[in-house]
Amino acid sequence: MKGPKPLVEIVATGRYLPERVVTNAELERMVDTSDEWIRERTGIRERRIAPPEMGCAEMGAEAARIAMCRAQVQPGEIDLIVVATATPDRLLPATACDLQALLGATNAAAFDISAACSGFIYALAVAEGYLAAGRGEIALIVSTEKMSGITDWTDRSTCVLFGDGAGAAVVRRSTNGRGVISQFIRSDGSLAELLWRPAGGVKMPLDQALLEERMHLVKMAGREVFKAAVRSMAEAADQALLRAGMTGADIDLFVPHQANIRIIEATARYAGIPMEKVFVNVDRYGNMSSATVPIALDEAQEQGRLKPGDNVLLVAFGAGFTWGSAVLRW
Ligand code: ACO
Repeated sequence: MKGPKPLVEIVATGRYLPERVVTNAELERMVDTSDEWIRERTGIRERRIAPPEMGCAEMGAEAARIAMCRAQVQPGEIDLIVVATATPDRLLPATACDLQALLGATNAAAFDISAACSGFIYALAVAEGYLAAGRGEIALIVSTEKMSGITDWTDRSTCVLFGDGAGAAVVRRSTNGRGVISQFIRSDGSLAELLWRPAGGVKMPLDQALLEERMHLVKMAGREVFKAAVRSMAEAADQALLRAGMTGADIDLFVPHQANIRIIEATARYAGIPMEKVFVNVDRYGNMSSATVPIALDEAQEQGRLKPGDNVLLVAFGAGFTWGSAVLRW
């Protein structure tokens, strides 16, 4: 078997997707766009939108319960809960603490990380370090995103892109050669304002004028973000493969962040991975930020596209900018 010995493994995954489907045709009635434009530029056909009263902790708990059931893990056995989200239920306290309470995971330390679309890979890196250092046995990592809550539904250049959903994974120390073979995470804060929510924090507290200017919602320089995403995801793929002692030819399944089919295709081409080995569901869900990777892993497993011993490459890119990657032996 190629690559370094894994320290931790993903034992099981789970997902939650809201029932309500919003098609491109429905968006055509809201903003000046077309199904053809959205499909050609992004590959997205529809996305899921959570009900107004549903928060990220609740969505994440739904996904977590499935992962915990499959892993046969009781709430009290969890030592660490890391929630990755760009859409926390509140600014204080962490969504992870609400999720902990919903699960009854009373023995866990719980906190959020803010790494936007790269959040799942960042959370996996945090869990790996914590468990490998011997600080605990079982970690729960949850990516839960209600992108509809921070989307400007009057801005056609962003509102067609996003969707809601949550994915979860139970992680524990590796015992059988399965698990995380390599990982890589990086950031570049000098480019933060290409993809951001300007107001709502302590630096620009919300007032009526800022609300009316929609400064609390996502703003994005799409073309610049696109170029940075292609460049950074290529670097991330390279680094994870290099650290695993592998090339694209060794990868059985590539699970990239699902933002745009053109970014996915460019990254796969760069890494030398044919599209039949790439998992794609951006057409059905749009960009669910950090939740895309664990939801894709969960669907891949369910569809029989992941077999024991398979080499799986994860790559993501998001606001920050942040980017990261991992090679897993499934
Ligand atoms: N419908 C119709 N026309 C539109 C729409 C729309 N929904 N949105 C933009 N346009 C128009 C623009 O106004 C522009 O018109 P103009 O030429 O008259 O000015 C034209 O389409 C082209 O716009 P571009 O922004 O250049 O289009 P591009 O090919 O770059 O596609 C897109 C836009 C899809 C947003 C692309 O830039 C992209 O995917 N960027 C990356 C976005 C991304 O992945 N973000 C997330 C990564 S990080 C994360 O996941 C949080």
